[in-house]
Amino acid sequence: MKHKVSKVLLLSVVLIGSLSFINSKKVKMSAGGSTVDSKREAKIDSLIKLMTLEEKVTMIHASSSFTSGGVPRLGIPEIVMSDGPHGVRKEHGRDWEADLAGTDSATCLPTGVSIAATWNPELGYAAGKVLGEEANARGKDIILGPGVNILRTPLNGRNFEYMSEDPYLASRMVVGFIKGVQDQGISACVKHYLANNQEVNRDKIDVQMSERALREIYLPAFAAAVQEGGANSVMGAYNKFRGQFCTHNEYLVNKILKGELGFKGVLISDWGAVHNTLEAVQNGCDLEMGSEFTTSSANKPNYDKFFMGDTLIKLVKSGAIEESLLNDKVRRLLRLMLKTNVMTKDKRKKGSINTPAHQAIALQVAEESITLLKNENVLPLKKQNIKTIAVIGANADRKHCGAGGSSQVNSKYEITALKGIQKLVGNSITIKYAPGYLIKKGKTADQELINAALEATKGADAVIYVGGWIHGYSDAWNDNAYDSEGLDKPDMQLPFGQNELIDALLKAHPNMVVVLEGGGPVDMTSFVERTKAIVQAWYPGIEGGNALAKIVFGEISPSGKLPMTFPKKLEDVPANKLGEYPGDGKTVNYKDDIWVGYRYYDTKKVEPLFPFGHGLSYTSFEYSDLKVQKNGQTVTVKLFVKNTGKMAGAEVVQVYVKDEKAAVERPEKELKGFSKLFLKAGEKKEVSLTLNPDAFKYYDEGKKQWVLEPGKFTIITGSSSKDLKLKADVEL
Ligand code: BGC
Repeated sequence: MKHKVSKVLLLSVVLIGSLSFINSKKVKMSAGGSTVDSKREAKIDSLIKLMTLEEKVTMIHASSSFTSGGVPRLGIPEIVMSDGPHGVRKEHGRDWEADLAGTDSATCLPTGVSIAATWNPELGYAAGKVLGEEANARGKDIILGPGVNILRTPLNGRNFEYMSEDPYLASRMVVGFIKGVQDQGISACVKHYLANNQEVNRDKIDVQMSERALREIYLPAFAAAVQEGGANSVMGAYNKFRGQFCTHNEYLVNKILKGELGFKGVLISDWGAVHNTLEAVQNGCDLEMGSEFTTSSANKPNYDKFFMGDTLIKLVKSGAIEESLLNDKVRRLLRLMLKTNVMTKDKRKKGSINTPAHQAIALQVAEESITLLKNENVLPLKKQNIKTIAVIGANADRKHCGAGGSSQVNSKYEITALKGIQKLVGNSITIKYAPGYLIKKGKTADQELINAALEATKGADAVIYVGGWIHGYSDAWNDNAYDSEGLDKPDMQLPFGQNELIDALLKAHPNMVVVLEGGGPVDMTSFVERTKAIVQAWYPGIEGGNALAKIVFGEISPSGKLPMTFPKKLEDVPANKLGEYPGDGKTVNYKDDIWVGYRYYDTKKVEPLFPFGHGLSYTSFEYSDLKVQKNGQTVTVKLFVKNTGKMAGAEVVQVYVKDEKAAVERPEKELKGFSKLFLKAGEKKEVSLTLNPDAFKYYDEGKKQWVLEPGKFTIITGSSSKDLKLKADVEL
């Protein structure tokens, strides 16, 4: 982890219907593609012919912390990569250098989990487009994101960067995101392939899982990213899979990614994830990054010493490795370069950085992701009835964008919750703020701070508590905690004595609104029953506080939905319950198999605190007239949804499929379609979804293929995985 210390120290300073806009682009892009493709391949052939062995090797490993090697003699530049999925940092990253002058002003988007909580693939696209435009403005070629690892346990430190516990939701959102980036002529790099579902021992843990779990749960989002999203690059994970490091894993990379999925792009190693020259070369790693910390001194990196450096030259010269293997890697890199004008940057779109339009997208994502978990007639607050508000909680005044690991962004500004509320209420309402707890390692409840918080709430007409998790205590890598790269959370408890503080505040203010920030669920046992309004704000980015204030004061109706189940307690989580997290240091057995998230809670009848897909609104929706029609094995689902309340709002109609009888145990139901509908008060719209045959299949381990077993299936529509509305049967 040594490299991470220096790195961060330095850096510190669908639903088918709703995807139509993306599909039309896909059609356009593929039209006439073959001539373009063959011309490109011919150009690649001619370049490869001109290259020496040494030049080829130069291209397939790093030349600095964030660039691949170039061949100036042939006009081949370095490829410049940018961390990560939430903003395009200023620093070029040759030597892990940060923008110490503090002039960095990238747009800091809400994190991956927020994007997924919008359940709006168009916003995935919009967020990707922001990154693509900012990458163009900064001369970067590859965005190192998005991350799509499945949320297997709430303890994973990087859940905030990822999308969902559900492969279908993650797939729909990632496709939009990638197209948003790549339509700007920039490459996306989907990560971390595969099963990087924990940070504990991420550099060595060997993940064992069944073939069915791989196919049904852990692979689909990557497959969608490559096949539907057309991702130009994929990042191999640090961990091992069935005994072999993922970055050079014969089965995952050669057989599945490049074989079955037909991936023609570049497999980039995670930083320092290559461990062996022969395996890396033979098993599909195309670009080795970050090995300066394992092969030489971090202070004086020698890139020739990389596994795919001088050693490789010797091995080819001795005949131990065929040069054709290198040619394939160079071909993939050149393909990415030619597709995205890396050699002809003057042909690139100009791009733009931190524009009002980008900030507006950050705001929209935040607005649509903030999720109302509970509301017993407390929200929205009515400004006209309030003279004084108390805002309590150190998180209310904390900026999050600049921490969390490689996805951190030095943003020009960040509207915290406190600032957002202050801006919205202006001078008309007095705001009293008290932190109530200290954000410090190991800090527990502090009676003095609790007393001061109680004092601040005296006479207040409304109390808003903003707490939850943080990325880290300081900018130092090894001082990070909770939602962070490199380590997992110790448990699901709120840190810093927040439970005691909430308890004291609720006794005095039973109508207190609790807002929680963080990458996932916390244990709410001590306050959930007594709290009338709970809001999950995630990490909402540069404009987060504005979005939160608009929701709290009812300027807009919340429409975020949980992309993961919120269990009552950690012991309910299948991986944790089985003792199969984080493994024994060497191996982690995914005995929870396909029973991840709601698939487990629903089927095994374990009551969650808030179910997958849950999220309340200030208005109400009525579902009617469900019609299910089949055409062969494709099923069309139609229904009407009406906004029956007094306010405009959005509803995410979720479509689940239940296999009534199967040869294998199947989940109670699985998400196979969704659509986010925006409805004015009183408005009614028809939703039409097409479920293709894949929606009904399971992976048969014996036959080694997906199987659609004929019989009865129930199509279930709902507002969450528990709030089910209309059902209909279909016989396939
Ligand atoms: C992370 C990647 C990141 C890379 C470069 C690695 O440690 O796992 O997500 O893109 O570093 O910073």
